[in-house]
Amino acid sequence: MSKLAIMEGTPFGALDIPVLYKGFPIWGQEELDAVQDVVRSEYWGTGGPKQVEFEEKFAEFIGAKYAINVTNGTHTLKLSLEALGIGPGDEVIVPGSTWQATASSVLDVNAIPVLVDVDPNTWCISPECIEKAITSRTKAIIPVHLYGRMCDMDAILDIAKRYNLVVIEDCAHQHGSEWKGMKAGTMGSTGSFSLQASKIMQTGEGGMVTTNDERLYELIYSLKFCGRPRDASLDTPTMQSGNFRGNEFAAAIGICQLARLEEQNRIRHENVTFLEDALQAEIPGLSYLYRDPRVTKQAHYRMSMRYNKEAWDGVHRDTIIKAVAAETEGVLKLVKPYKPLNDSKLYRPFSKKTHKLSDEYMRLVDPSRFHMPVVENLFKEEYLGFDHPMFLGKREELEKVVDIFKKLYANIPELKKYQETL
Ligand SMILES: Cc1ncc(COP(=O)(O)O)c(C=O)c1O
Repeated sequence: MSKLAIMEGTPFGALDIPVLYKGFPIWGQEELDAVQDVVRSEYWGTGGPKQVEFEEKFAEFIGAKYAINVTNGTHTLKLSLEALGIGPGDEVIVPGSTWQATASSVLDVNAIPVLVDVDPNTWCISPECIEKAITSRTKAIIPVHLYGRMCDMDAILDIAKRYNLVVIEDCAHQHGSEWKGMKAGTMGSTGSFSLQASKIMQTGEGGMVTTNDERLYELIYSLKFCGRPRDASLDTPTMQSGNFRGNEFAAAIGICQLARLEEQNRIRHENVTFLEDALQAEIPGLSYLYRDPRVTKQAHYRMSMRYNKEAWDGVHRDTIIKAVAAETEGVLKLVKPYKPLNDSKLYRPFSKKTHKLSDEYMRLVDPSRFHMPVVENLFKEEYLGFDHPMFLGKREELEKVVDIFKKLYANIPELKKYQETL
């Protein structure tokens, strides 16, 4: 008789863990009261007291002079690029493994996204690959602090200084991480935060730009506001722009969620560290990524493990994902990494007339011209990810995850038999 649920054996059993939209986000009376306050105030749009308070508190939390609340974490990137004067003819270096917005925001200002490989130790953008990709057209780097590890900011800031490039930190996954005591989002010219629903801190939809540069602050404020200066009495140069404003309801939720963030980051980090240690110690072929001692606080959008199929007699990572889901009656859905941007359905520079500037531009933005062996292998077989909500749940449920992997490992022949049926 089969042992594994995927071969019609008895499942291990459902886990009692928070998952997105079922146990996460965490909310309480504070959020209910805050939204009611906004309703009663009749100030529902942008620039109201909640938004001002949210921006001030977010800036304080990040340790930046300014924070600007905008529509989402795609527009934060676009507005940063525009404010920094990046446009046609400029190249911007981005990692090939990230959500498509990191690269598509570069297309949106008609600049050239240059995709590079990631560091095999952290799966964040590789400083060596950045340096190799620099040309006379390079103007900016967008490092993404990906999943649950930070980019090597010492190396990236050093490269930026030597080649006179600007840095926009994409912090969509890392609200609260710290590099040598400096928060993610304070080391580049701007920090870009998504507050979209899947993130560790969210307002449903939303974004926040952080900066220490007063000129950039005024420009980005103006850009989000159809080009109007923040303060009409200031002599801010105006730019052509649109509407990228956040609203008062989202800001009200944001204030409450920000108040919960530091404690949630602490709990997530403790639980991720527990599970990383336990899986690496007890399960062959699973190992955690390099823990850089320069990271003084680590926020976790995901826990990412390296999966070595040789240790599992050739059982593919995708079989493991299916088998874990079956053992937990569909509750625990392990995840793959982002599809490499050189072959992603959501990153299609040729599909829009806006980007068809010239044959030369089309050649330069063609994603298939970039080769990224580490990124490609992650997607193919090496990456195994756990989404963040479960790390705010009970420790006993995480202990069960180790037992599930033990059960799978003890039944490799069944996993292989299943794999043969595919
Ligand atoms: C790394 C990264 N950058 C940018 C974004 C874009 O953020 P948003 O969805 O708020 O536009 C995301 C969100 O998914 C992301 O994961």
